[in-house]
Amino acid sequence: MAEESFDVIVIGSGPGGYVAAIRAAQLGLKAACVEADRLGGVCNNVGCIPTKAMLESAKYAKKVGGLADYGIQVGDVKLDLGTAAKRAKKVAEQGAKGVGFLFKKNKIESIAGWGRLKGDGRVEVEGKDGKRTLSGKHIILATGSRPKSLPMLEIDGDRVWSSDNAVFASGAPETLAIVGAGAIGMEFADVFDAFGTKVTVIEALDQVLPLEDADSAAVIEKSYRKRGMEILTGARLEKAAVGKGGVKLTVKAKDGKSKTVEVERVLVAVGRAPIVDDIGLDEAGVKVENGFIKVDDSLQTTAKGVYAIGDCARPPLLAHKASHEGIKLVEALAGQGHGTVDYDNIPNVTYCHPEVASVGLTEKAAREKGLDIEVGSFPFSASGRARTAGETEGFVKVIREKKYSEIVGAHIVGPAASELIGEFVVGRHLETTAEEMEAAIHPHPTLSESVAEAALAALGRAIHI
Ligand code: NAI
Repeated sequence: MAEESFDVIVIGSGPGGYVAAIRAAQLGLKAACVEADRLGGVCNNVGCIPTKAMLESAKYAKKVGGLADYGIQVGDVKLDLGTAAKRAKKVAEQGAKGVGFLFKKNKIESIAGWGRLKGDGRVEVEGKDGKRTLSGKHIILATGSRPKSLPMLEIDGDRVWSSDNAVFASGAPETLAIVGAGAIGMEFADVFDAFGTKVTVIEALDQVLPLEDADSAAVIEKSYRKRGMEILTGARLEKAAVGKGGVKLTVKAKDGKSKTVEVERVLVAVGRAPIVDDIGLDEAGVKVENGFIKVDDSLQTTAKGVYAIGDCARPPLLAHKASHEGIKLVEALAGQGHGTVDYDNIPNVTYCHPEVASVGLTEKAAREKGLDIEVGSFPFSASGRARTAGETEGFVKVIREKKYSEIVGAHIVGPAASELIGEFVVGRHLETTAEEMEAAIHPHPTLSESVAEAALAALGRAIHI
């Protein structure tokens, strides 16, 4: 078959790849997107979207038993994780259709199959009906990542789960150990606990959510313990015996003592590995460094005309970072924009309850950098709106650099933290000072007032505490 040529060929249709393809088409470039699985990638099909649907179910599951004070008597409550998973799957399916619709609308050629670089601007796609070769002026690798296994705890999809297995589980196990207390571990701990599973979290480092500010992690750890979860931080997994009826884990706890954890299933949530195998990197001269595809500041790999974005290229492994890399890269390829992503202003969100969100430096990192800072916190227990909602756990914390009053870090734990963090992201993008954050009038009563109050707290003059 004759080679088909494109201006841009994107391999992978996750939030990095499909967004890059759409932006390319908007800029008048002839674009193709190669995808071996469902459109929308991990994020839409097994990651961000369905897990957030499960967390929505978890929120109701947790709330429903405590509605009597709100004037609502609920009868017998039956929780069914399998039904929640079916709904989550439907939400994901809608998203995949949405990406297909956007491809059609933008006249992007959507090509089903596994893409491999063949060198000299060519990509071979192995699909159901055989192979075809495409040629492209620019090739963008957006192949994403997959869950990491542990040598002693290989993911088998049965007793030992990855997040791919946990997200559409047909029911809640009686007991579940979660190895790793990053975003994935803590989100699934929330879901399974809410549906009645006895959850044990095993984390090697000294705090849950190790990338977050220590104050944020402390609120979540306390909250999870109060719910009855066992949280083992500073814990080393020493042995794992996977049997027919369950898994026996031996853990060296913080105090140095060995502890046995026997569970029905284990979820391994120890990070994700970039997908770099069987995509023709060697053939095209694309180098890998520390497991990621090596890219320069313009996201070009070691092969001219081949670029990489998203999880396969460099951390953080976040959908919004991938999309922005895709947009900025394509704009630069089309000769527009300045082609830079503001890596210092990428928000982090963990959608457990209460939610955790942050942007910029943690207090510890700011101090280690030697910045002259002032830190202020505003607790949701002092927010009228949070009290009306009955969701008073957590706080908004602002870290302000004293000289110019620049907000170097913001940390939120609590209701709608995932939405509220947007204020700080925009604020930091516009180089807003703490004074300006507060001077912008926030509606009363809202959770967003806590953002303004926290900015005031970092100036030493909060009103409501
Ligand atoms: P992660 O790297 O964030 O966390 C993994 C955790 O496992 C770390 O705390 C690490 O110390 C711990 N760990 C590693 N080996 C261990 C061992 N042998 N025993 C005990 N603990 C061990 O990875 P995670 O949570 O799997 O997420 C993968 C990626 O996906 C991350 O980059 C994350 O940011 C991203 N993601 C983001 C989400 C969000 O934005 N809400 C949701 C889910 C994932």
